[in-house]
Amino acid sequence: MMKRRLRHPCWPTGLLAVVLLAQARNAPAPNGQRVAFPEGYQKKYQVLRMVDKPDKKQLVTVYGNDAAASIKSTGQLPYPYGSILVMETSSALKGSQGKVALDEKGHYRKGKVLGLHVMRKEHGFGEGYGQNRTGEWEYVEFGPDRSYLTPPEKSSVCAECHLKAGREKDFVYGGRLHSDRGN
Ligand code: HEC
Repeated sequence: MMKRRLRHPCWPTGLLAVVLLAQARNAPAPNGQRVAFPEGYQKKYQVLRMVDKPDKKQLVTVYGNDAAASIKSTGQLPYPYGSILVMETSSALKGSQGKVALDEKGHYRKGKVLGLHVMRKEHGFGEGYGQNRTGEWEYVEFGPDRSYLTPPEKSSVCAECHLKAGREKDFVYGGRLHSDRGN
């Protein structure tokens, strides 16, 4: 009798779904500072990809350290441990008229750096994301002053979306593997 009453009503299942959804919104994330500011990336890393973003008049440049830059075809995936990918967003440089000044190939020129998305792959990384774990990558976002825009403990949003890039791509959307500027 007791058992039946516990099993019967449907609404607690609905309630459970709501609770689970709420937990997903407040998803777990690593809280150690394991992804550092990528010192000197503009000189030390390779440019893997540049994309103009006309809607925001911004320029996105994806850099990789040597380990990340070693991946040149999908056949070489997954990325090796020690890989660091940096996605830099900058404003497009404007000319005297306030119009975006294009380079000789018709692309944006880099203005001010607005922020850096950084992902790093190391043994055992990513565990803290729980069900949003994307292999062994961890994520953070830095502002131009090197402070966190997205600290490790808030970075589940990053993992949640990169999950959709898929394991077969090692959770990396672009990297060098699709290129807008023929590099
Ligand atoms: C809504 C989905 C979404 C979210 C949220 C997101 N990303 Fe991405 N990320 C992308 C896509 C799509 C690209 C490819 C952009 C391109 O190359 O044009 C990308 C590119 C990157 C890259 C370059 C490597 C690659 O995958 O192409 C890094 C590094 C990166 N993101 C880190 C982060 C970090 C750190 C966060 C959280 C602060 C984050 N991302 C949040 C979708 C997302």
